[in-house]
Amino acid sequence: MWMSTLARFARPIFQRSPSPVLCKAMKACRRMELLAPSFCMTPVHIRRHQTLGSAPMPVAAHSMRHVRALHEERLMAVEWEDGGQSLYPFTWLRDNCQCSRCTLQSAEARLLLMADLDIHIGMDSVEVTKDGKVSIAWPDQHTSVFDAEWLKKRCFSDAARQAMQEELFLNERYYWDATLRIPQADFQEVLHDDGAALAWLMALRQVGIVHLKGAPAEQGQVARLAERIGYLRLTFYGHTWQVQDKSMANNVAYTSGKLSLHTDYPALHFAPGVQFLHCIKQAKEGGESEVVDGFHMAKQLQREDPEAFRTLTSLRVDFTDTGTDYCDFMLQSKNRIIEALKAYVDIMNRPENVVTYTMKPGDIVTFDNWRLLHGRKSYISRPDRLRHLEGAYLDWDEVMSRLRIVRRNVHGDTRASDKRSHLH
Ligand code: OGA
Ligand code: ZN
Ligand code: ZN
Repeated sequence: MWMSTLARFARPIFQRSPSPVLCKAMKACRRMELLAPSFCMTPVHIRRHQTLGSAPMPVAAHSMRHVRALHEERLMAVEWEDGGQSLYPFTWLRDNCQCSRCTLQSAEARLLLMADLDIHIGMDSVEVTKDGKVSIAWPDQHTSVFDAEWLKKRCFSDAARQAMQEELFLNERYYWDATLRIPQADFQEVLHDDGAALAWLMALRQVGIVHLKGAPAEQGQVARLAERIGYLRLTFYGHTWQVQDKSMANNVAYTSGKLSLHTDYPALHFAPGVQFLHCIKQAKEGGESEVVDGFHMAKQLQREDPEAFRTLTSLRVDFTDTGTDYCDFMLQSKNRIIEALKAYVDIMNRPENVVTYTMKPGDIVTFDNWRLLHGRKSYISRPDRLRHLEGAYLDWDEVMSRLRIVRRNVHGDTRASDKRSHLH
């Protein structure tokens, strides 16, 4: 078990832009890219034997002591039983009316047209109803009713807004180096158990990499995993793709050579967010995998060589990928470049930063392709024992969507306390 107890670290102010940088050659290898995230974040390290997780947040039912309209400021003030106070603008309340004329209940989507919203609206009266809701009468005879819990969650205080953003996007990241013990989960459990899926996706989001164990050593498993999320991302390399030593390889990954640390597919303006690689057959000699935490590396570079960091995160260069696979393609993209690429590469090749592991048949590595750089050592290719990985891409929107759904299934409609028992 790699996570068990609480170790909440300083909340990062996380601001990322998926800004890929230049691979060594302008002709990018198939889907490879190096990643230059522009961010500002408090580094947090996961060290060997260190455990971490999120604090289970107790979800208390919030009830109101008092509510009143501050007409001059055009704000509604709610005093909570716990002593806190929240302020809500009149316009925002009218705009967010949850009644069936303003909201299409079946779609949980607004019906109220912006053109019909009076942004200078006043408030006739406001009261707490017997069942503990806020009822507002508007000058146009319209009435809005809001749940206490609904309002509490949308409190405009910095802390509440930050908590809401974290709940929605899980932007906290745990930085790591060579001492990381890669979180593991069971393939079958992840497919069939929402608690296990939640633990997997939380770790994928926050650590950036999770190993799934126990998948059948045959093709089709990354597609099953992608179906568990929703759907995979089709690219010019197909729905899924076979990493093997191929003659007339249309990509350097399809050789037995070493792959230096990279992220995949910089020739796309919107590189795939998540990657799955399933080991079906491993080489007898070589073929070990390597990963580094690109965010942690970039932070190091920013500290050691701010000029290089600035270059890396600002300059854009042309990437290209041309060939035939799923169909013929001639891709061009302009993504962030690193002129001082060497400085970045030197940092990420430091032994203290690289995690090395050997995949066994049935292992699937799932990782954040916007954050991690991955590579592999060269291997001896033998026709009787062809190394074979099957890969697939997904995007973060779909992955986060599934995470929110399984979190709701596991914890109800509340803030998640992540379930960690499924990670080993
Ligand atoms: C790839 C890749 C790693 C491996 O196909 O993009 O990085 O171990 N493969 O073959
Ligand atoms: Zn309404
Ligand atoms: Zn790759």
